[in-house]
Amino acid sequence: MQTLHLDLGKHSYPIHIGHGLLDRAHEWIAPLIKTPRVAIVSNETVAPLYLDRLQNALEKSGIGALPIILPEGEQHKTVESWLAIHDALLAARCERGTTLIALGGGVVGDIAGFAAATFQRGIDFIQIPTTLLAQVDSSVGGKTGINHPRGKNMIGAFYQPRMVLIDTDALATLPARELSAGLAEVIKYGLIRNTEFFVWLENHLDALLAGDAAALQYAIGQSCACKAEIVAADERETGERALLNLGHTFGHALEAEFGYGNWLHGEAVAVGTMMAAAASKARGWLNDADCERIARLFERAHLPVRIPPADVERLIDWMRGDKKVASGKLRLVLLEAIGQAAVHPARDDEELQTALTACMDD
Ligand code: NAD
Ligand code: GLY
Repeated sequence: MQTLHLDLGKHSYPIHIGHGLLDRAHEWIAPLIKTPRVAIVSNETVAPLYLDRLQNALEKSGIGALPIILPEGEQHKTVESWLAIHDALLAARCERGTTLIALGGGVVGDIAGFAAATFQRGIDFIQIPTTLLAQVDSSVGGKTGINHPRGKNMIGAFYQPRMVLIDTDALATLPARELSAGLAEVIKYGLIRNTEFFVWLENHLDALLAGDAAALQYAIGQSCACKAEIVAADERETGERALLNLGHTFGHALEAEFGYGNWLHGEAVAVGTMMAAAASKARGWLNDADCERIARLFERAHLPVRIPPADVERLIDWMRGDKKVASGKLRLVLLEAIGQAAVHPARDDEELQTALTACMDD
């Protein structure tokens, strides 16, 4: 087991990573809670797999639990789900001292975190992420929120958990496509600032795909360490935290254009990263061999690197709705080299068109 620390002054918290942690969850949760009962937010898929185990562990320390089970899917990352959590907390007379635990993937973690931020003006919450994507990205850093019909994650808050508890065993039940989607974010960390980790991924990708426990623990640890360092330096994304969005401005446009749920977030990020790589090549920073090397790693992770023919103008319109637009100017996370990302203002629409079409089938 490994413990990292996200250093945010009085909002600092530990990130515990290891296998078998769920059955011992009480050891870390009991010292943090203020009331003898916690609320556990999960969903229809994850609850049957892991809720009993978490509740049994909590019982060992005499901790009761109020389960709140959300419907499955990104389409339920809505104000209705957020309100349902408040309804359940109020109906069960939960108090300001109640701790809310998010048990699930990024969808559950984002909604539950936002409910924790707003219930009675803010209650403690703990993240127990069960997808690779949530373990390496969404559970760490305090971005919480829900979707608005006009845009993804448009309503939310920066609200940090008290602890992140990552049990790598949960990945055993994760569908292969979801594991691959999480690997897109893992590869992202190598690309933005850790060439050595990128090379490690090239050498250990097969072990990760095969579910090798030691390889997964190492990759999750490296990813969380990178994210923790960046968030500690820039919690509110006024600067370097934007680097974590490599491939995301293009990727969000693809998710919106092709329909949420048709493309997983990680899949869109993989192609989006190839588009960012194409723009970086056009600026003379990456060469053909670099772009092929990145594409090869995504492909080995069973991730897409191209999109079917699509309306380029519409994709650019989606990109303009991105949260990284500042004073009407679109900013791109580009690669100055493998392992070295930086934010640059987009030059013009032609630059975006070239990057989009470079990764588009005829
Ligand atoms: P998800 O939460 O939808 O989980 C993917 C699927 O796996 C779902 O069907 C889920 O029920 C299922 N699942 C979860 N754990 C499982 C397990 N152990 N075994 C079997 N099935 C399991 O998707 P995700 O990829 O985890 O997260 C995507 C969401 O995260 C998006 O809404 C995205 O906006 C958000 N996100 C947030 C941040 C952040 O910083 N807050 C960062 C990246 C992504
Ligand atoms: N997933 C990007 C961030 O947390 O900033």
